[in-house]
Amino acid sequence: MSNKLFRKKTVEQIQHDSLHVGGGGLAKVLGVKDLVSLGIAAIVGAGIFSTIGLASYNGGPAVSLLFVFTAIACVFTALSYAQFASTVPVSGSAYTYAYVAFGEIFAWVIGWALILEYAVSNMVVAISWSEYFVSMLKGFGITIPSWLTTSSEAAYEAFNKLNKGGMEVLSTSERAAAMTYQHAPHIGDFALICNLPAGLITFLVTWLVYIGIKESRTASNIMVILKVSVVLLVIIGGAFYVKPDNWTPFAPNGMKGVLSGVAAVFFAFIGFDSISTTAEECKNPQRDLPRAMIYCLLICTILYVAITLVLTGMVNYKELNVNDPLAFVFQSTGLDFMAGVISVSSVIAITSALLVFQLGQPRIWMTMSRDGLLWPKFSKIHPKYKTPAFATIIAGVVVTIPALFFKMDFFVDLTSVGTFFAFILVCGGVLYLDHKGISKQSKFRVPYVNGKFLVGIALIITLLGLYVYGDAVLNEWTSLSFADIVKHKSLTIIFWLTWIVLAIASYKFNFSTLPIAGILVNLYLMTELGASNWIIFAIWLIVGLIIYFLYGYKKSRLNMK
Ligand code: ALA
Repeated sequence: MSNKLFRKKTVEQIQHDSLHVGGGGLAKVLGVKDLVSLGIAAIVGAGIFSTIGLASYNGGPAVSLLFVFTAIACVFTALSYAQFASTVPVSGSAYTYAYVAFGEIFAWVIGWALILEYAVSNMVVAISWSEYFVSMLKGFGITIPSWLTTSSEAAYEAFNKLNKGGMEVLSTSERAAAMTYQHAPHIGDFALICNLPAGLITFLVTWLVYIGIKESRTASNIMVILKVSVVLLVIIGGAFYVKPDNWTPFAPNGMKGVLSGVAAVFFAFIGFDSISTTAEECKNPQRDLPRAMIYCLLICTILYVAITLVLTGMVNYKELNVNDPLAFVFQSTGLDFMAGVISVSSVIAITSALLVFQLGQPRIWMTMSRDGLLWPKFSKIHPKYKTPAFATIIAGVVVTIPALFFKMDFFVDLTSVGTFFAFILVCGGVLYLDHKGISKQSKFRVPYVNGKFLVGIALIITLLGLYVYGDAVLNEWTSLSFADIVKHKSLTIIFWLTWIVLAIASYKFNFSTLPIAGILVNLYLMTELGASNWIIFAIWLIVGLIIYFLYGYKKSRLNMK
């Protein structure tokens, strides 16, 4: 059985299947500029337009450093993705890479985790889009009834809280949600409430993706130009209104405050990897994909750090707990016209993030279906539009329904856990490629720095540093009981154990340092997400494994052979 679970595909097999299984090839139209554009389209979205508000509120101006730190994790990961994409240039992204490196069961687990990165993150993006859209319409004097623009989950929760504690315990937004519940049309006891704009935009974007990659590319290119313009407008326009006093204190709530923004900050970077799913639609994937990934990551990091400094420089960080921070800072500086322009363009900008993930999800399913791990319909290509039609429709339905009814917070955390997990395995996969000599076939390779001693030395230096300078951390540990350590610190212990194991393995196998740095930085950030998210993620994986054993395990093409 274990042989079957860890059966692997070879690079040659994967390339052959992409050409001959599932109704023929996709249209090859994408060049490096299109890929950078698609990358930026995916990366710059709800994260920078919405969730950065709360992160800055908790962490203050120092959140800009968290952006740098997270970007470093992403660069290590992007290099690993780039190596894989240049070795196995087909649509499945991390899923395909895991099939080569670790075997079928890991591939399935990653494919399943990627649903969190693509479909679940798009629920956040759709909900964020709806928020900007509703406030944009308000700017034009149009008001949609709130029972058509509120998540039923938020309304039900607020109403229950109202019943238990009265109006005083509710925040402003909860009050609005509770009122929505009371005034919504009812069928019996059941209040009819949904977030219609979030559902409609997902439907429209799905339709665009369904009718063709070319149309999607043009739409995405236009939206990206607009998106970068808005961000530049905020940075350049805002720079004149920065009051350096607002940057002190730089980290008002210490490390804890800064790190509480990990999920939001990481969410803002997710997407650079998504362009690897278009590998089969690239003119020259081996050359263009690695370049495009690194370019768009660099561009976005610079933009993000600059925008965080501008936002926290224009107003006091305490004012930033809002869902539309980019427009808000201009409003509160009295520049209403600028705020209006930013609101309108943000709506268009966020649409492009939605587009890329709706484009990516069906392509991953298509690849999994070609391998026999999902039903054959998922890899059928539409004869006229040349897109994976059925998978595209399913991705549309999967995102639309939760976006209509649920809140975004939970989905942000879930997306981040799943994506960190995928990133760690991709970095680990590069170690396998090197170890097995498959890297020789890669047209792009992660620069090799021998980690034989480096990984261990870095571990010792970090531990010494903690011993000498980390009083706060050490005091926290010594004040905890054993039970509390198990409860609150298990994830941190996993991190240190992983580092020790990697140090030993590097000594033995001369592992490359950069992918190991990628694993460790991603894992460290993942530990900051909190145990409850890990538990939900574990449940998600168990559900995935049940599906695998019921279907893919038997139907896998490798099994048929
Ligand atoms: N990075 C994407 C966004 O912020 C997921 O919307």
